[in-house]
Amino acid sequence: MRTEVLLSPRPVRCEVAIVIDVLRFTTSAAYALANGARSLIPCATIEEARAHAPRALLAGERHAVKPDGFDLGNSPLEFTAEAVQGRELAWTTTNGTRAIHAILTAPSPFPVPHLPPRPFASTSSPSLYGRDLILASYVNLSAVVALLRPRLEEPASVAIACAGRDGGFALEDAACAGALVRRLQAASGGRLPMNDGARACACLDEAYGEDLSRLFRDAQHGRFLRDRGFGADLDACAAIDAVAVVPRWRDGRFVAG
Ligand code: MLT
Repeated sequence: MRTEVLLSPRPVRCEVAIVIDVLRFTTSAAYALANGARSLIPCATIEEARAHAPRALLAGERHAVKPDGFDLGNSPLEFTAEAVQGRELAWTTTNGTRAIHAILTAPSPFPVPHLPPRPFASTSSPSLYGRDLILASYVNLSAVVALLRPRLEEPASVAIACAGRDGGFALEDAACAGALVRRLQAASGGRLPMNDGARACACLDEAYGEDLSRLFRDAQHGRFLRDRGFGADLDACAAIDAVAVVPRWRDGRFVAG
């Protein structure tokens, strides 16, 4: 398996795409599905999400704040079984769901002849580079590694896309990508080919992996959330392997994989 880390989202040719938005979308998505949400529809805009009401609950944020009329914000603490069990969620966030849309909808710069014509069944996206799209964060690292383990010996290409912040770099996403890379590296017996982004992220995990409180104190978005009263969210986002669920793209939405 070849592994590359994208330090900010962009279109990429790969067989598995993994999106990371530690603070807070991919963390909250894992909690929501672990607590029984039926599926999650990532929406690029607030208006697009609203079109799914009332059938779906509306979730998300702009600048960390729940949009008017939405049922839920973007805090991992909100996605309890009481709130989401059996429900579909239409979800829009500043960076996380936008990163997914960048991967789903960008036109292909490459011919991809070896992929099936519609690798993500019945998605509305005309072109996808991956055969699989999953969401990762600290709370489901081991579950993601378990999902990928059978493919370690294959010539599969894996792209780990950091959602980042306003189109740029986010320290916490890169450090989490590094934690994932190092676990995959260990699972492969040290034989995982990596790009420079993956190596840089592995160094960040060496620096921060034992102290996620420090990571979130150093990260701009961690400080932003704490200043706005979301300090408790940071603890939920730092709960390594708290859930055994991997949000996985199926038929135009994420479901528990
Ligand atoms: C995002 O997608 O930009 C984040 O999840 C923002 C947040 O902290 O809610």
